[in-house]
Parts: sequence; structure tokens; C-alpha cells
Amino acid sequence: MKEMPQLGMGTFRLKDDAALNAVTDALAVGFRHVDTAQIYQNEEFVGDAIKTSGIDRSDLFITTKVWYESLSEDKFIPSIHESLSKLKVEHVDLLLIHWPYPGDDISLEDYLPRLKQAKELGLTRHIGVSNFTIDQIKRAEEILGKGEIYTNQIELHPFMQNRQVVKACEERGIGITAYMPFAVGDVMKDDTLNAIADAHNTSPAQVVLSWLDKKGINTIPSSTNKKHLEENFSYTDISLSDDELYRIDELDNGVRIVDPDFAPKWD
Ligand SMILES: NC(=O)c1ccc[n+]([C@@H]2O[C@H](COP(=O)([O-])OP(=O)(O)OC[C@H]3O[C@@H](n4cnc5c(N)ncnc54)[C@H](OP(=O)(O)O)[C@@H]3O)[C@@H](O)[C@H]2O)c1
Repeated sequence: MKEMPQLGMGTFRLKDDAALNAVTDALAVGFRHVDTAQIYQNEEFVGDAIKTSGIDRSDLFITTKVWYESLSEDKFIPSIHESLSKLKVEHVDLLLIHWPYPGDDISLEDYLPRLKQAKELGLTRHIGVSNFTIDQIKRAEEILGKGEIYTNQIELHPFMQNRQVVKACEERGIGITAYMPFAVGDVMKDDTLNAIADAHNTSPAQVVLSWLDKKGINTIPSSTNKKHLEENFSYTDISLSDDELYRIDELDNGVRIVDPDFAPKWD
């Protein structure tokens, strides 16, 4: 079965033609993995970019995420059909629960089986979650069964390494997808990352992508700039030493960028 490419194109904040152009550029550069979500309101433009690229569907890995307001029985499956229609595909490769339902007011036991139903209906090849805590991951595994959860997509960058959640997922064979790998651009300003980048005659962006790759963590940086997309896509040109990897590990300060009022109680 087709695996998720290590590097994907993120599309949060990209609206209308910005989404169309950025995804078109990303596909031209070589990206074959695209991350969107119902709440980004850009699935239609992501779908246009995919369609006009002419790239064979089987060569693409497309992820979308169900918004928490569509987790109820009457909305869940219809919302996926709407996503597929906008994306202009028969199925996605990965379907995620974007956020656990706020306050657990709709329980995991209630809505997670609908993910499995979506897979059984052929609407997605893989299923997973996003922004799930360790406790929620454990419960999700009990509900869905071992080996069912493909990934937990979480905030992860040098300043927020989310180590406990990573460990809990790794112990269960659940993949990690790092969102906001560049801390929305802050990694470019960091002295340590710039020093390591200078030593390799490259950029902090490539350093971070190489660091994540070494950890076996998939990631989905976003860019609207074709030069940045090219730079990000060719991160494999550099190889970091153990000392450099350690210095990046030391940058964790545990401060989150994404912490909305409906977030779960973080680990
Ligand atoms: N599951 C969730 O709840 C969740 C939450 C947030 C995000 N996400 C996903 O994660 C993706 C990535 O997060 P993000 O887009 O917020 O932040 P990000 O990828 O950490 O950072 C994006 C920023 O980095 C800049 N950038 C990218 N490549 C660069 C390079 N090579 N050199 C210099 N600057 C560069 C971009 O500017 P330019 O456009 O100028 O290149 C943009 O301002 C999202 O798009 C979304 O798909 C998921």
C-alpha cells in the first residue's frame, strides 16, 4: 500500500488562488503529498491544482481532516463526500479527526468508529487523528484496534518537540506528522539553527527538515514561495552530525503556537 511521503505540502491559511498557486508550484517542484482540512476552506482550490497538474492520482497522497463540528452521525460521512467532491477525487489517502471534540462532549467512543466506517466505504485508505493527547491516543487505539491509527498530526518543531506524545505514539506503532515544522517562520531567526545551516551552506529550513527526517517524523511545511518550496523539497542534500542533532534537541522550550480555547488538556 502506498505510504505517506516523508514531506508534504501544508495549506493552512492559503485561500482561493493562493492555495491553487502554491499547491500547483509544490506539485511542479516534486511534492506528491498534500495536507488540507475542511476548515481551511481551500479543498476546492487544492483539488483544482491536483486536477490541472495531470499527475496520476495513484502517485499522490492526499490528506484531509474532519472539523469537530462535523463529528456527529448526521454530518460525518456527508462532510467527507463534500470534501471528496471539492478535491475532485474518489478517495483521500488519509482522513484525520482534526481536533478531539471539545470537552469530550461527544465521546471518542461515539465518533471514532465513523472513521473506520469511512475507510470501509472506500472514502479513505488510511485513518488517523490530530491534536490527540496520550490518554486520547490510548482510548482511540482501544476503540479502533491496534494498527488502525496511521498517524497523530501534532505541533512539532525545534521549540515544541512534544516528546511524551511522540514516545506514546512510537510505542504503539503510530506515526507522527509534525505540523508547523518551521514554527511559522520563527526557526529562520534562531541563532543555533542559523549556525548549523551556515556550517552546511544551507538554510535553517533544510536543517529542520533533515532533523525531523532523522527522527522518522513526517512533516508538512507550507510555503507560497517557489524558491522556498524547491529548497524544502531538496533538504535530503544535507546530513547532520550527532552533535548538531543534539543541539537542535536542546532548543525545546515547550511553548505552543497552536492552543485554541477548544484544545484538549495537553500532556
Ligand atoms: N492539524 C492541525 O491542527 C494543524 C495546525 C496547524 C497547521 N497544520 C498543518 O501544518 C502545515 C504547516 O504549518 P504552517 O503553515 O502553519 O507553518 P510552517 O510550515 O511552520 O511555516 C510556514 C511559514 O514558513 C515560511 N517558509 C516556508 N519555507 C521556507 C523557507 N524555505 N525559507 C523561509 N521561510 C519559509 C512560509 O513563508 P513563505 O510562504 O514565504 O515561504 C510560511 O510563512 C499547515 O499548512 C497545515 O497543513 C495543521
